[in-house]
Amino acid sequence: MANIIILGAQWGDEGKGKLVDLLACRYDYVVRYQGGHNAGHTILIGDRRFVLRLVPSGILHPGKTAVIGNGLVVDPIALIDEIDQLAAAGVDVANQLRISNRAQVLLPTHRVLEKITEALPGRTPIGTTSRGIGPCYENKASRRGIRIADLLDRDYFPGAVAQLMEDHLIRARAFGLEADSASTDIAAVTARYAEAAERIRPLVCDTVRLLSDAMAAGKQLLFEGAQGTMLDLDHGTYPFVTSSSACAGGACTGAGIPPSKIDGVIGITKAYCTRVGGGPFPSEALDAMGDLLRNRGHEFGSVTGRPRRCGWFDVPVIRYSAAINGFDSMVLTKLDVMDELDEIPVCIGYRLGGVMTREMPATHRLLAKVEPVFERVQGWKSSTKGISEWTELPEAARQYITFLEEQTGVEAGCISTGPERSETVVRSGSCFARLTGRL
Ligand code: GDP
Ligand code: IMO
Ligand code: MG
Repeated sequence: MANIIILGAQWGDEGKGKLVDLLACRYDYVVRYQGGHNAGHTILIGDRRFVLRLVPSGILHPGKTAVIGNGLVVDPIALIDEIDQLAAAGVDVANQLRISNRAQVLLPTHRVLEKITEALPGRTPIGTTSRGIGPCYENKASRRGIRIADLLDRDYFPGAVAQLMEDHLIRARAFGLEADSASTDIAAVTARYAEAAERIRPLVCDTVRLLSDAMAAGKQLLFEGAQGTMLDLDHGTYPFVTSSSACAGGACTGAGIPPSKIDGVIGITKAYCTRVGGGPFPSEALDAMGDLLRNRGHEFGSVTGRPRRCGWFDVPVIRYSAAINGFDSMVLTKLDVMDELDEIPVCIGYRLGGVMTREMPATHRLLAKVEPVFERVQGWKSSTKGISEWTELPEAARQYITFLEEQTGVEAGCISTGPERSETVVRSGSCFARLTGRL
């Protein structure tokens, strides 16, 4: 057993929530380190479905501590909504949730400012979740942000929020942006946020100290990434990315954890590929096959309900992602979605200017120009739904998985065959089994 990071290897929605929930029983702390309520991590337990946005997926296990790290941008109103839903479902939030006093506070005017890039004519929108994530991280980087500790400071917060919101409103007016009064009325927002502050006050602490003491006491930590490596601010398909460090390195800065304390990194990847929003997607299937994946995989955004763009497993993406994150193992999710296919295209490389490459171009313009090179692998044409033993998977499904391992150079230590906890194959002897204690 060890401290591990679980994160998305593609463009998000790989099934991180399911995996974190599955493994959380073996860890003491589950820690989010970046992003905000742009994330939507779905967990299915029997007939109960939870979609977690800010709260780490480990909270559904009684007795486990879920930590919102310093690297997040937190909309306190969205957080309280989530807390109330969890409490209504019987979760002991008061004892299980802790929030970093250094996380950033997201304001309604951040959402208004997002319209500058997303809604004004003549711009190329990123297709964001419209949650205000980018503008909030902008304020953090420009050292104008308000942190959770500031929100709790009754003497400081009203002045600080008024000043920041006034600046936001000047920009909003200059760009001719429309906004509802609930977002722009400074006194009303201040009062709403002050009320929210009192609700979360008992949960806020110095989470760096909390986690440091926990590690000293021999506790096990699981870090839960949001979004995915290709949406990482530095390494993703910039500018069609989110505004935080979704890669493994982000766990150290976003939770205040020394790199020396991380024992393993597990990449979650769909057995195919999806993306929400704009930006290049070389292996996208714009034909009926894409529709089939979308319908069988219920590929509609858990935050915005948007149809997800669907395509095939992209080897260069995973090789690149593995280089950045150092995957010890990958988890292939949603294998069951591909059960009906006669054959499965796998993007094994790109052709760019007539030259074959397996590397990731640095610009979105070049990535949009690459021609995917596909190799077709035989489908298995039988149900894998719910299978939990490697030997029970159809031979062709095992061959598909082995092909992906050979192409990417990463072990597929775990395969997910359905959304439920039990619908999971853990390969004995794998690095995944060793790291997660599921031998
Ligand atoms: P996350 O953001 O990475 O946590 O992923 P999402 O929750 O946004 O999207 C993954 C969706 O796939 C969720 O609805 C899960 O319940 C579902 N899911 C996860 N693993 C599997 C699987 O192996 N098979 C199927 N059919 N669905 C899965
Ligand atoms: P989880 O954690 C998939 C995408 C948006 C958009 C880009 C920037 O559930 O995997 P943002 O609102 O973050 O500024 O949008 O990133 N995006 C996600 N796509 N899953 C997510 O989260 C995402 N969070 C952001 O669609 O393209
Ligand atoms: Mg999601």
